[in-house]
Amino acid sequence: MSADLRGRTVVLGVTGGIAAYKSAELVSRLRKAGAAVRVIMTENAARFVTPLTFETMSNHPVVTDTFERPETWEVAHVALAKAADVFVIAPATANILAKMAAGLADDMLSTTVLATKAPVLVAPAMNTAMWSAPVTQKNCAELLSRGVRFVGPEGGFLACGDTGAGRMSEPEQIFEAIVDILQPRRDLAGVKLLVTAGATREYLDPVRYLSNESSGKMGFAIAEAARDRGAEVVAVAGAVTAPIPEGIRVERVTTTLDLLDTMTRLAPEADVVIQAAAPADYRFAEQYSQKLKKADGVPLTIALTENPDVAAAVARLKRPGQILVGFAAETECLLENAEKKLAKKKLDLIVANDVTAPGAGFNVDTNIATLLSARFGRQDCPLQSKRALAETILDTVLRLRGAE
Ligand code: PMT
Repeated sequence: MSADLRGRTVVLGVTGGIAAYKSAELVSRLRKAGAAVRVIMTENAARFVTPLTFETMSNHPVVTDTFERPETWEVAHVALAKAADVFVIAPATANILAKMAAGLADDMLSTTVLATKAPVLVAPAMNTAMWSAPVTQKNCAELLSRGVRFVGPEGGFLACGDTGAGRMSEPEQIFEAIVDILQPRRDLAGVKLLVTAGATREYLDPVRYLSNESSGKMGFAIAEAARDRGAEVVAVAGAVTAPIPEGIRVERVTTTLDLLDTMTRLAPEADVVIQAAAPADYRFAEQYSQKLKKADGVPLTIALTENPDVAAAVARLKRPGQILVGFAAETECLLENAEKKLAKKKLDLIVANDVTAPGAGFNVDTNIATLLSARFGRQDCPLQSKRALAETILDTVLRLRGAE
């Protein structure tokens, strides 16, 4: 189905890179789909492509500097920031990413993007060494954690002669990423999705417990993405620090045994079960109804009992056509351990994450993962927002449903 973007305004920021010429094609695609396009160019961008090109393609004056006084835009940056249904920067240089991460506003583009409340999409383009520089990666992680979306960069041969990641995505991919933002897919309509989030807690006494750092961010990102794509979502949440999403039925649990009870009750009704929670693998063999007293220096030995494997129990109840997804939180031998869990827990798909990697795992807004399934093999997902990873997991779930 071709996209209909009539009535939508895309503000396109163009920064100084050789890929700037490709953005003219993006403008053309957007206009053909009915969108109004307003272009802001940095001074450096105007050295690669003339503003006249973008003026002609967009059929509007191009804004290049905060001190210009365009006839129709009274306070141009505020007006453009407000007019945007989506704010796209393509190509996005290391410089604009750094400015955005730092909140700098020293020209028309950085000022306007700082002021916008619209979703922001960036298509980075730069030399491989600049892209992989720790400071650029840190800036990207910061932007991801604030909800800025990324498309690319792609790997390949770069204009500077290097080979590696840094090439701007093709206009078609950027266009599709814009359409995804403006017209969220409803490809999960009618699907019942059950997702777990957060940590379970095992109490020793009324004040002490065994748990982990899971915040619920990953599970809730999946719940929100599935909700936005039309699924009927139930989230089973343990202890969480992330806000509870709206429009989702949430069942609360405390211990792994509670989780087991709730999941064995709800899973048979679900078409898709995704287990992103971090259940405690052990509970205290004995629990005390009163706060345990200190024993004046005498070492305390406490026995632990193994908790049941909830995912394996859910798999035993699996009905035909149901898709089961688990996570693997690893600190070593990521893929090897995840493969074992995929088989042992009888999952259709496992999302392996190294929880010691910066920007991945517990209580951060981003993740780095590898998706493993018997059906489709391996798919690497580099550093990205948990929401973006959630979308990829759901895309794979849909492919698995289609392959059933
Ligand atoms: O909540 P966040 O702060 O966003 O953090 C996200 C996360 C790191 C918790 C998430 O990305 C993640 O990795 N979740 C899985 C955590 C975990 O328990 O991993 P595991 O490798 O120990 O377990 C493998 C799978 O079995 C998981 O799907 C888990 O939910 C499930 N499990 C584990 C133990 C148990 N007793 N029963 C289970 O069902």
